[in-house]
Amino acid sequence: MGLLIKNGEIITASERYTADIYCEGETITRIEKDITPPPDATVIDATGKYVFPGFIDPHTHIYLPFMGTFAKDTYTTASQAALVGGTTTFIDFCIPMRGDEPLAAWDTWNAHSEGKSACDYTYHMAVTRYDAGVESQLREIVRNGVSSFKVFLAYKGAFGVDDEELYHTLKLAKSLGVITTAHCENEVIVAELQKELVAQGKIGPEWHYYSRPPRVEAEGTHHLTTFAEIHNAHVYIVHLSCDEALQVAAQAKYRGVNVWVETLIQYLLLDKTYAELPEFEGAKYVMSPPLRDKRNQSILWDAIRHQLVSTVATDHAPFDFNGQKPMGKSDFTKIPNGIPALEDRVNLLYTYGVKTGKIDLHRFVDSASTQAAKIFGLYPRKGTIQLGADADLVVYDPHYTRTLSKSTQLMNVDYSAFEGWKIEGRPHVVTVRGEIAARDGKFVGTVGRGRFLKRDPNHF
Ligand code: URP
Ligand code: ZN
Ligand code: ZN
Repeated sequence: MGLLIKNGEIITASERYTADIYCEGETITRIEKDITPPPDATVIDATGKYVFPGFIDPHTHIYLPFMGTFAKDTYTTASQAALVGGTTTFIDFCIPMRGDEPLAAWDTWNAHSEGKSACDYTYHMAVTRYDAGVESQLREIVRNGVSSFKVFLAYKGAFGVDDEELYHTLKLAKSLGVITTAHCENEVIVAELQKELVAQGKIGPEWHYYSRPPRVEAEGTHHLTTFAEIHNAHVYIVHLSCDEALQVAAQAKYRGVNVWVETLIQYLLLDKTYAELPEFEGAKYVMSPPLRDKRNQSILWDAIRHQLVSTVATDHAPFDFNGQKPMGKSDFTKIPNGIPALEDRVNLLYTYGVKTGKIDLHRFVDSASTQAAKIFGLYPRKGTIQLGADADLVVYDPHYTRTLSKSTQLMNVDYSAFEGWKIEGRPHVVTVRGEIAARDGKFVGTVGRGRFLKRDPNHF
């Protein structure tokens, strides 16, 4: 039984036209005008709607032991939330603690994901220690279908690597044809500033920003791109938040370093005043790097438009306001870092990016889907609408309006960072490999149907 999407306006990163899309099994097999519905086909009328490729969030934390607790979502809750919001694939991070073995972490993450997700997913493999044993396990994990690493230049003593480890990770990544994603903040400066602030009694969430100022992120960015340049390695800066770091990344690009940049929907829309909200409310908005001065937002939007920033992700890391964020009630350095957004990224980017004219529909699709697929070896299976691609499609209603609220979200967390924000547009129908998985804000798919996506290295 096939699926026919009729009369939609198809939007990809480079094309815009009206046609019908026919999907047989899991794949797009026809894109033509006026396809007669075959008997038994399910027909979706997309008249007056856009049809986008399924969106990809290249940076999420679904299973995450972190700062003495665990991120709240499971692969089941997160995938359902992702799907109603139009995200059909997410990339999680498999992160061993520094003393743990990569293959043990690999088994742990698989135990949490296998048979639990309703949408497709894959992992970036974090390198949190480097020695001969780790190296051979990383080689095995790459053979298992992972073509991206992750390093943290932050979180001293937990996930952070030192310079020698960074050097060898990038050298290995280059030799294997793997891209390395990186959290860029100088962990030593952060640790020292944290100590000084707390010693001065500056313990509220509003002080988090001052322990990780923009120059600390710029230094981390410079550090990563310097090491990448030495090895001619491919690197991807996650969650870039500010002008200072962007300038460093741009200079590296100018020198010919193979570097890509991701920003987050949170940095585009929220600023540091949210983390200054009274009554510990600011803790909802503590993440790293911190929310920045508002002036950075127009710089980031411009950078998306000019393709200096390739992707818009979420860094979805859900920790409850009641029960988890208060772990740092009397010391901001202990507030679990993260701002959830997986469910709302696409609608917020559409509403505040496309509808306001900051980016056009093509950059919207490109930054929220196509670039992630290209950079991380999923293209053209994912990230576009073409014959032979997976039938991951979002039939999008550009006229729908609603107000975001924790009371209606599917993300398993007790607050919405965008409580009361208006969205204009949402997915009408979302398909995953030819099966309808969400309809008008409701999950109607199959838990467990989501697949781990094996990715080959050397796809650049
Ligand atoms: O604050 C953040 N970003 N939390 C999640 C972990 C990370 O650094 O990506
Ligand atoms: Zn990070
Ligand atoms: Zn992250």
